[in-house]
Amino acid sequence: MNKPTFPFARLRAAALALCLAQTFLAPAVAADAPVKLQTLRGAEITASDPEGDGTRYSRDSAPLPRDFVQQPPLIPHTIKGYTVTKNFNKCLDCHAWARAKESGATKISVTHFKTREGDELSSVSPRRYFCNQCHVPQSDAKPLVGNTFKPGTGMR
Ligand code: HEC
Ligand code: HEC
Repeated sequence: MNKPTFPFARLRAAALALCLAQTFLAPAVAADAPVKLQTLRGAEITASDPEGDGTRYSRDSAPLPRDFVQQPPLIPHTIKGYTVTKNFNKCLDCHAWARAKESGATKISVTHFKTREGDELSSVSPRRYFCNQCHVPQSDAKPLVGNTFKPGTGMR
């Protein structure tokens, strides 16, 4: 098998045609002309982000209406300083079942004790540990884009 078989020969012919096309049909721009890259944030790539003026949280309020039954409820209070790390979860200081009575916070849902394999645990499941993946605080800000979402039928 030292002669190229038919499909390989065809492939080689195609590659050659491509090379020729590239040589003769190449655009007039010199190959070594610098490419002009620009970041979306309009700063040097290496510059750090401007500090901004921080998140302005809405005032603490009563629980907010939900738009569909499976929705993670919105956080109706500030979360400034409520750290969640691998070793510490400030949210559970109030929302854990053992704390809810005294803090007046809603107990985390029973679904939060289920692992992804469906096993029930006696404390919060790792997949529900980082609360802010799903629950978001509110800010009184102008919407960036329009939204025509209507609450699900079960909520109307
Ligand atoms: C100092 C106590 C405290 C801490 C800490 C806290 N919460 Fe709350 N949270 C509350 C209270 C009180 C309510 C309101 C309960 C009510 O009015 O019915 C609430 C309400 C909520 C609700 C709305 C529940 C619903 O039924 O609509 C969510 C979601 C929530 N908190 C998530 C969080 C998350 C996520 C964190 C951590 C980033 C957190 N909370 C930290 C006390 C706390
Ligand atoms: C992967 C997404 C996800 C994560 C992570 C998560 N939640 Fe939830 N949470 C939900 C959804 C969805 C619901 C509503 C449906 C339900 O009860 O499971 C909910 C419901 C709740 C409720 C309302 C319970 C009720 O009885 O109405 C509270 C309070 C809450 N979560 C707090 C927390 C806290 C505190 C954490 C972190 C320890 C957390 N959640 C992590 C998705 C999440």
